[in-house]
Amino acid sequence: MLGNIGRVALVLFVGLAAVLFQLMRLPPAVATSDQVQGRNNTALFIVNTLAGLHNVHMATIQALQEKHPHVKVHVLSWAEIEPKVKSLGAGVEFHALAGQSYMEAVLEATRGSPLADFAHALTVSGWLTVGSHMQLWMSPWSGPNYLDLMREMGDVMDRLDPAVVVLDSFMWPGIDTAREKKRLHAFIVPNMLTDNFIYLQPWLGGYWKVPALSSNLPFPIPWSKIPLNVVHSLVMRYGLSWTPKLRSTKAYVLSNGVRHTRSSDFYDIYRPDTPWITQTLPEASLPVDYIPPNVTCTGPIVSYSPPLAEQDSELAAWLQNGPTVLINLGNTVSYDEKRAGAFIGALSSLLESRLSLQVLWKFQKAGAYSDDVFGAVRKYMDSGRLRVVSWLEAGPVALLETGHVKAFVHHGGAGSYYDGIISGVPHIVLPLWADHYNIASLVEYLHIGVQGCKETIPDWTSECLAGAISGVLDESETSQKMRGRAQEIGRIARASPGRHGAAQIVAKLAGTGHTG
Ligand SMILES: *[C@@H]1O[C@H](CO)[C@@H](O)[C@H](O)[C@H]1NC(C)=O
Ligand SMILES: *[C@@H]1O[C@H](CO)[C@@H](O)[C@H](O)[C@H]1NC(C)=O
Repeated sequence: MLGNIGRVALVLFVGLAAVLFQLMRLPPAVATSDQVQGRNNTALFIVNTLAGLHNVHMATIQALQEKHPHVKVHVLSWAEIEPKVKSLGAGVEFHALAGQSYMEAVLEATRGSPLADFAHALTVSGWLTVGSHMQLWMSPWSGPNYLDLMREMGDVMDRLDPAVVVLDSFMWPGIDTAREKKRLHAFIVPNMLTDNFIYLQPWLGGYWKVPALSSNLPFPIPWSKIPLNVVHSLVMRYGLSWTPKLRSTKAYVLSNGVRHTRSSDFYDIYRPDTPWITQTLPEASLPVDYIPPNVTCTGPIVSYSPPLAEQDSELAAWLQNGPTVLINLGNTVSYDEKRAGAFIGALSSLLESRLSLQVLWKFQKAGAYSDDVFGAVRKYMDSGRLRVVSWLEAGPVALLETGHVKAFVHHGGAGSYYDGIISGVPHIVLPLWADHYNIASLVEYLHIGVQGCKETIPDWTSECLAGAISGVLDESETSQKMRGRAQEIGRIARASPGRHGAAQIVAKLAGTGHTG
């Protein structure tokens, strides 16, 4: 354990570094206390097109429609998510942005690499790379495109006059516009307290107590690894707060008369007068000493999903054939030939040794290669024990809630994590970058699953994949405990759905507007 002298020395060291860091910072922007009142019971959601970011908003809107139908909901985003928004009900109005979309900007800034290409090794150069990529994902637009979006969003705010603007933490032109226009606004984020508020923890805990972003260190951090975590944490803080890559955008925006822009610091988005809603569930997260004012932890903010049988009766019938492994690495991860081959080898050995097992694999190819790679599992595909699909009509929760999925393989995105949590299914996490690593170590800390292929990060082998999946399916005492723990947390999560908690806060904020 860390003795008192060690702790004081560490805090002094970290403190010195943090003070230096603070000195390098830009002066804080003017606080917007003189807020403009908008039209009563009108909420404008400005959301991103990535499901991993906007699913929490969709779930909240669903709950608003159900429990607070007097709130008029508008959604401002890019056209590609219009059908999804429309499916929430006739009462929700969609407004399309004409400016460059988030994904277009990301692809331009990263020269078209899919997310799997950002897989990084756990080395200093890997951290520097992820720190640099994270900056682009945080705010991928050039100055002029950023400003165009701000103008467009500002026009919509003026026209709709919402009492509250609801944002996600990766929609920086929206955040800046809401602040510039002095609009009451709130955040709903998929991330947990430890993602956003680590640097506000007492005793500089964010540097030495909580595993740094993308570090893959376990919690509690072993004493011998604390110095590594401190260095790692400083590297990440430098990248995400100082954001050297975003400096020209920021300078451009500021020089064009935008006064309140803070479009440069990931850890400085929160304001005490800006309600922040996170789907953190204490039982499913790392312990946090300090929760800032106006931050609400609602538990998983997941949409209600009709039973699978109503959505896809054929798939529901198939799932009843036997215990199933669901592999769904999210929409942003696709498989190159090597990754596909590793999985195929693992599935071939699992299906050969476990005769009642079946596997549902959501698979998207990255690049061009021959389907011959599926040779080893072709017979299982033909017999129907292995289903490889590029798209699932029903969301993961509908599948997980059937009770037939015994292991959920995902990439460690917050959305996937909470889908698993709310359904009480144990996890096999295959992290590739950034916060995925923290979710993998969280799953192990909570004993509700395992991280696969730790030894070969960021690559996978058939052996480690098969081993990780077996470890969850086994009848060993450890595996049984994992299942029990996952089910117990699932029960807690389902007792009070986070979407209702989030909707209640938004409805209350929306009810502070003016009439007329
Ligand atoms: C929380 O935010 C609301 C809305 O801006 C504000 O009225 C309230 O004073 C804030 N609470 C605290 C403790 O700052
Ligand atoms: C705004 O709406 C809320 C909720 O319906 C209501 O309680 C409040 O009195 C309204 N405010 C005004 C100014 O009418």
